[in-house]
Amino acid sequence: MHSHGFSSRIAWDSRPNPLTVLLAWKRSENARVLDLTESNPTRAGFSYPQEQILTALAHPQALRYHPEPRGLTPAREAVSQYYKQRGVEVEPARVIITASTSEAYAYVFKLLCNPGDEVLVPCPSYPLFDHLAAMESVRVKQYPLRYDGAWHIDFPALAAAITPRTRALVIVNPNNPTGSFLKREEWTRIGELGVPIISDEVFADFAFAPDATRVATLAEPQNVLTFVLSGLSKIAGLPQMKLGWIVASGPHHEKALDGLEWIADTFLSVGTPVQLALPQLLQAGGEVRAQIMERTRANLALLHGLLAVSSPVHVLSVEGGWNVTLQVPRTLSEEQWALDLLAHDDVLVQPGFFYDFESEAFLVLSLMTPSDVFREGLQRILARIR
Ligand SMILES: Cc1ncc(COP(=O)(O)O)c(C=O)c1O
Repeated sequence: MHSHGFSSRIAWDSRPNPLTVLLAWKRSENARVLDLTESNPTRAGFSYPQEQILTALAHPQALRYHPEPRGLTPAREAVSQYYKQRGVEVEPARVIITASTSEAYAYVFKLLCNPGDEVLVPCPSYPLFDHLAAMESVRVKQYPLRYDGAWHIDFPALAAAITPRTRALVIVNPNNPTGSFLKREEWTRIGELGVPIISDEVFADFAFAPDATRVATLAEPQNVLTFVLSGLSKIAGLPQMKLGWIVASGPHHEKALDGLEWIADTFLSVGTPVQLALPQLLQAGGEVRAQIMERTRANLALLHGLLAVSSPVHVLSVEGGWNVTLQVPRTLSEEQWALDLLAHDDVLVQPGFFYDFESEAFLVLSLMTPSDVFREGLQRILARIR
């Protein structure tokens, strides 16, 4: 490892993967690539309440700098209101405003971990954890989720992953890309482990159907130290606003909040205009969310329709979120499927290993893809696999 005197937090010798290289070449050739990986809601053809959003950002008090490390009161009250609408009481005093969910992870890792400590993360899941942890000199240990028609936490494997250096357990509820929610019975067992919990609920508002066995949120007071993370990027489809939050509860949560305040005070990273706009942005987000739900539902129905007849492609069951996973024949590696689809059919999908699927061969598609692109892309995928 030649870091030339720079920190080893950064992956200095990372090279673009073959799919990225091929995509760059396709784009340079002006190919019309059907992108079935679009996860940026501001690029996916939704109609945003533009007036409301832009007006909200022009609050007269945005001309004044009066920082509050935990977040401006109107912003913390807006978060409280967001949970109230979901039937959950979250006092503004339990809320810390951050610039994103990613920053919220960084804050909680700084709060709980010394260099070399460990955090448990689900597998498969969102690939940013490795980087977020590396930036804090923290080690990631994966605990597996297993699929048998539905996704479950593998508890023996989870217990085996706990060491004296374990400082937190990350739950992604619902998980990305599996779209699986945490179940009540799973939460009971996790709570007994006595490990502080980080619950990433950025996709919590995107469930395809209700389910009473599910944990909707861990934002209400818990018996174990718990940090719920969410923000505007997914629930309101507004990643560019850069506003997220942490809701703390459980033993010593007040001390935890003091620590988070100390961390936040070091950076004071959240802009005043977006904090003042939060009540309006959350309201506007409702409209965006409804459009996203309509799109993801329609694409899922389309997918099931196209695959209804006997097919070599199997759709993994998905309860919520923005992604869906296809299991494809192992005649090729999933990377080769993705490369072939892009090279020959101009269709871009993600291979499962981007999310650390334990076995082959899985492809991940974004349900947010505009439906005409989604349909055509799927038809080409099916034609290739058949
Ligand atoms: C599970 C999960 N958590 C967090 C994030 C990042 O959210 P933010 O934009 O608030 O940092 C993402 C983005 O894809 C995600 O999939």
